[in-house]
Amino acid sequence: MFRPLIRIVIISCSVIATAINLSLTQQLILAPSRNARYALLKDEDFLFDFGKGPSSELSTGGYLAEATSETFPALVGQGVGMAVGILGPCGFNTPHTHVGGSEFFIALNGTIHSYLALEPPPINSGATPRVINHTINALQATIFPQGSTHMQINPSCEIRAFVASFGTDDFGRTQQFEALFSIPDDVLQDSLGNTLSPSQIDNIRQKIPSPVMKSINQCRVVCGMPLHPEH
Ligand SMILES: *[C@@H]1O[C@H](CO)[C@@H](O)[C@H](O)[C@H]1NC(C)=O
Ligand SMILES: *[C@@H]1O[C@H](CO)[C@@H](O)[C@H](O)[C@H]1NC(C)=O
Ligand SMILES: *[C@@H]1O[C@H](CO)[C@@H](O)[C@H](O)[C@H]1NC(C)=O
Repeated sequence: MFRPLIRIVIISCSVIATAINLSLTQQLILAPSRNARYALLKDEDFLFDFGKGPSSELSTGGYLAEATSETFPALVGQGVGMAVGILGPCGFNTPHTHVGGSEFFIALNGTIHSYLALEPPPINSGATPRVINHTINALQATIFPQGSTHMQINPSCEIRAFVASFGTDDFGRTQQFEALFSIPDDVLQDSLGNTLSPSQIDNIRQKIPSPVMKSINQCRVVCGMPLHPEH
C-alpha cells in the first residue's frame, strides 16, 4: 500500500540529484560500490599531477601540493591521501597539525629539519609537550601522529622536496598560531598570563606569516637573503 508513495520519493530524489549537479567527489561518495565508483571515473581521473601546484609561491619560501578527496576525487573510498612539499632555500613549513590523520613524512632529495611536539600525558594536559627534533636526510622518514603539532625547515640554500602520506583522503591542516590568535583578545590575554596587551596581540595577529615562509636569520645570512621576511 506504500508503493506509490515510495515511487514518488524515489523519483523526486533522482530529480533533486540531477538538479543539484553533484560534484564528482559527491557522486563518488554516494556510489553504492567500488565498481559503481570506478564507473564514474574516466581513465584520466586516475592521474594526479603534484607538479601542477602553485609553483609561483616558491618566492614565499615554498609550497604544498595536496591530493585529497576534493583535489583528486579518485581517492574517495581508498583511505589514503598525500602531499608534496617544496621548500625553497631556508624554507620553513610553519607549526601546524592535521586533525584528520597521521603523517608519514619522507625527505626526498636533501636534509630537512623536523620538529614534533607530542601530546602531553592524559593525566597532565598542562605538561610541556615532549619535543622530538630530527635531521632527516634524503630518503629518511619520520611520523607525525594525528593531531600533533609539527614543522619542518630546509636549512640549505637549495630547493628540497618532501612527501607526506596519510591514511585518509581528508587529512586537513590547521595553522597553530592562526588558530590560537583567532580567539577574542581578552580571552587570549588571560590565556597568555596577561603578558601581552591588546595592541601587542593585534600586532602578532597581523604578522603571522603564510603557512610556508623563508626562515631563520642564520640560514638567510648564509644564503645571502634579506633578513626581514617579506610578509
Ligand atoms: C546543472 O548543470 C547544467 C549543465 O551544466 C546547467 O545547465 C544547470 O544550470 C545546472 N544546475 C544547477 C542547479 O546548477
Ligand atoms: C634538538 O634536540 C636536541 C636534544 O633535545 C637539542 O640538543 C638540539 O639543540 C635541538 N636542535 C634544535 C635545532 O633545536
Ligand atoms: C628536489 O626535488 C625538487 C622537486 O623535483 C626539485 O625542484 C629540487 O631542485 C630538488 N633539489 C635537489 C637538491 O635535488
